[in-house]
Amino acid sequence: MEINEQELFDIAYKAMDNAYTPYSNYTVGAAILCDDGKIYSGGNIENASYGLTNCAERTAIFKAISEGAKEIKAITIVNGTSEMSKPCGACRQVMSEFMKADAPVFLANNTNQYKEFTFKEILPLAFSDKDMD
Ligand code: THU
Repeated sequence: MEINEQELFDIAYKAMDNAYTPYSNYTVGAAILCDDGKIYSGGNIENASYGLTNCAERTAIFKAISEGAKEIKAITIVNGTSEMSKPCGACRQVMSEFMKADAPVFLANNTNQYKEFTFKEILPLAFSDKDMD
């Protein structure tokens, strides 16, 4: 499947428009290319009860899976600062449910600079269904 890195960045960046971040003012956008050929995106959605905040990555993933996608072929994560995005541990674990070890992860900043990793580089020793066999 063809991965258009610029398109993924642009869609992730645009997803920050609808991020809801009144508490941290830290916006994050994620875009994921899925096995159905579609790109799903999402922003972080905060809550006055802070722990209920949903990260951008999980917003995009849950949108995709609930629409019928089965696998994430690539993900781009961007935030509103000049520092590289770093998905939190909870999001890495959710990503691991739907991403193969060698799938690309693009961690971007707000000026279209990004570093490419494989999924297993950002989550070595992931806990998975195989651990319960
Ligand atoms: N955040 C994300 O959306 N993704 C991450 O992987 C890191 C953290 C959000 C959650 C919260 O709205 C804000 O960034 C500050 O933690």
